[in-house]
Amino acid sequence: MINEYNKFLVSTSYFQNKKLQIGVPYKHQHILSLQGFNKASKEICSWNDYHPTPLHLLSDLAEESGVALIAYKDESCRFSLKSFKALGGAYAVANLLIKKLKEIGITANSSDLIAGTYTELTLKITVCCATDGNHGRSVAWGAQKFGCNCEIYIHRNVSIGREKAIAKYGAKVNRIEGNYDDSVRIAAEVAEENSYYVVSDTSYAGYTDIPKDVMQGYTVMVDETMKQMKEMPTHVFLQGGVGGFPAATVSFLVESLDCPPIFVVVEPTNADCLFQSAVNGEPTVVHGDLDTVMAGLACGEVSLLAWSIIESYVPHFMTIEDKSVSITMKLLANGKTPIVAGESAVAGLAGFLIASHDSSLKETLKLDNNSRILVFGTEGDTDEKMYEKMVGRSATEVLKDS
Ligand SMILES: Cc1ncc(COP(=O)(O)O)c(C=O)c1O
Repeated sequence: MINEYNKFLVSTSYFQNKKLQIGVPYKHQHILSLQGFNKASKEICSWNDYHPTPLHLLSDLAEESGVALIAYKDESCRFSLKSFKALGGAYAVANLLIKKLKEIGITANSSDLIAGTYTELTLKITVCCATDGNHGRSVAWGAQKFGCNCEIYIHRNVSIGREKAIAKYGAKVNRIEGNYDDSVRIAAEVAEENSYYVVSDTSYAGYTDIPKDVMQGYTVMVDETMKQMKEMPTHVFLQGGVGGFPAATVSFLVESLDCPPIFVVVEPTNADCLFQSAVNGEPTVVHGDLDTVMAGLACGEVSLLAWSIIESYVPHFMTIEDKSVSITMKLLANGKTPIVAGESAVAGLAGFLIASHDSSLKETLKLDNNSRILVFGTEGDTDEKMYEKMVGRSATEVLKDS
């Protein structure tokens, strides 16, 4: 089956960020830091339903693709939300409420919020954001868990299944005409008019504090992974939307490791804002419908803070086409240990498998039989109908015999 990745080479693009100096020490602590991670970890690990997600070793796939190891961090069972985004948006909501209470002289933590100690005060607050699904679900879940109101903006292509999954947590969900970037702008306008607090996973000029918290929440997943790995990875393939997830991972690994791995950012061909920004050497907007099956990666504008980390430490950028997604989802579903991986979860793995079929790309990326590959399966069947359509079986059926 993995020979099939050969055919995706023609439609794959690659760009090397030649401006980058390998081995430069981490200097973006003003955005994301180990100190920020410690704070996030203390809060998130205190939530009653917290537990680390599993790390699977895909030994057969590693052997077939000629590397020493492929480690797959499986976020399909992150809380009840089925994606790593549960860590970011919800943490940012908790932190916002903690800060607002502090302004009126109350020192609180997430446990106080979960216990409802200050509900009378926090219920006066409304959080608001745009989403293509997973981030909004996290914010809505966080608002319900920590005791505030929530209003979410989704764009025209967000599936009904994803809409319902957000509404389940009591949020008011509004669907707009236009794409993801339009929904970001509308959410910001509505928040301004109504004195809501925007809890966005993307940062833009004049709006940076809360997206830092969102990204810092993601680093808890990276820390778990490092504790689960016996040997550090040599390569990490990271799927990118606005760039928050790759930036969080890169920041944590570059700051904490003496010899950080080689990073490769992978995006859908039709929504390649990080790739285009790398090509142009500056944040670059990708226009149009951003049409891709990888719903979580359908972003046309980079997060400015995330970009500043990515451009400093990521040497390699790839784009992949949608057709490589369903085959990778099936590969994981049919593996020795069946894994439920959603459409946006597999881009990093697909990018690696495609690269492993091209000798010149392998050489450029320094991939050989000593390489230890790390990928993050960032979601499970967050859109259940879409998962079943693409894999041919539901998640329950996939996991039946495991
Ligand atoms: C499942 C999944 N993976 C990866 C990403 C990419 O994250 P970011 O937009 O922070 O780059 C997203 C974004 O929503 C996502 O939902």
